[in-house]
Amino acid sequence: MSAMELRILATPREQQALLDLPWDMPLEEWPEWYLVALPRGISRHVVRFTRLGGRIYALKEVVQSYADREYRLLRDLERLNVPAVKAVGVVSGRQAPDGESLDPILVTRHLQFSLPYRALFARMMRRDTVDRLIDALVVLIARLHLLGFYWGDCSLSNTLFRRDAGAFAAYLVDAETGELHDRLSDGQRLHDLEVARVNIAGEMMDLAAAGYLDETVDPIATSDQVVERYRTLWAELTEWEAFDVNDRWRIARRVERLNELGFDVAELDIVTDIGGRTVRVQPKVVDAGHHSRRLLRLTGIDAQENQARRLLNDLDAYAAETDQQGEDEEIVANAWVLDCFEPVLRTIPPEFRGKLESPEIYHEVLEHRWYLSERSGYDVGLPEAAQDYVDTVLRHKPDELAILGGTTENPEDPEATQPFRVPWDELR
Ligand SMILES: Nc1ncnc2c1ncn2[C@@H]1O[C@H](COP(=O)(O)OP(=O)(O)O)[C@@H](O)[C@H]1O
Ligand SMILES: [Mg+2]
Repeated sequence: MSAMELRILATPREQQALLDLPWDMPLEEWPEWYLVALPRGISRHVVRFTRLGGRIYALKEVVQSYADREYRLLRDLERLNVPAVKAVGVVSGRQAPDGESLDPILVTRHLQFSLPYRALFARMMRRDTVDRLIDALVVLIARLHLLGFYWGDCSLSNTLFRRDAGAFAAYLVDAETGELHDRLSDGQRLHDLEVARVNIAGEMMDLAAAGYLDETVDPIATSDQVVERYRTLWAELTEWEAFDVNDRWRIARRVERLNELGFDVAELDIVTDIGGRTVRVQPKVVDAGHHSRRLLRLTGIDAQENQARRLLNDLDAYAAETDQQGEDEEIVANAWVLDCFEPVLRTIPPEFRGKLESPEIYHEVLEHRWYLSERSGYDVGLPEAAQDYVDTVLRHKPDELAILGGTTENPEDPEATQPFRVPWDELR
């Protein structure tokens, strides 16, 4: 029998509080005083809410492989900045007093002010409210697809809604069937959408049967609407658009529309036809924070957007120098971490490591290398530049970690002040 294991990403205080829960009982049998009655969607698994130290958590009892998988995907989505519930941990190795083993429990933070669709529909839903709900969900799906996330079980039950200045914002709650790819093919996207359409049609028909829909709301038309709206949005996000050169303002309009939808435009492909009368543009749309997410996905390094852009440029340069441009991105990234990133960080004496976050240090070493190379008239190597940087620059900098109080003690947001943790011990 395995020992109980708590894998919890939380402040020590939260961990302590979680330890007090009756993990040796099936979740279904937990006494009421541990639980908070809050609305929740329809689920296959037993899901309950509990309140600990002013915070509410959702607990889901689920087999090990699913718990691990969902935990990992939710963590990925969090790093990718996708609106989704936050995973706190997995409690496994649970055992009843009679020795019978119990399924693990996935712990997530309850999403404050979130409403399952059933709670929203508890009063009769009007047509325009349904439309806004669907729009929010469609934006969420498109955002996931841009990031290469295949949901696999999109439904109203697996989405939470928050009110958002008269509209709604949709959050992913159930990632169990998700898959994170580099990018999705059209087939994958359309399949994901078809699953959503079928699920939503069923859910809307249930609501209609229970008398929660205004008669102007047709369940089938509503689920079809998901597909139509998605297609329109996807075209807006990705398609070429042609117009007369005199209508250049339309470029700005398109960018504005995208910004309003919550997307950033990383670059615009602009082609002018031979006659010079027509301009065609295609935006490269990204979710805000594109570079930091790409870097994180490839290397596990959590950096700010500009740092990430810098590090990715260095990665590209490395790929070119080592003649690996045709190689698989992830393989090159891994080699870059081993050949470039980690060796530089290893040069930093432990007592200086709190001075700056590691991506910032790496960025500064790159700058320093450039400066040294220019001054000396030859290409100074990375190790030499790193050593010189430590001796002449870093040594004289204040300790920023101490100034920012970079600990996990802030109970409000334990992750907020925490810089990227280099696994120093593994590096040596
Ligand atoms: N972190 C959370 N915050 C708010 N509600 C949640 C959270 N986790 C789960 N729920 C509620 O529980 C329901 C079921 O959770 P879900 O993960 O979809 O379980 P299942 O895998 O059994 O379908 C959701 O529809 C949602 O209403
Ligand atoms: Mg679900």
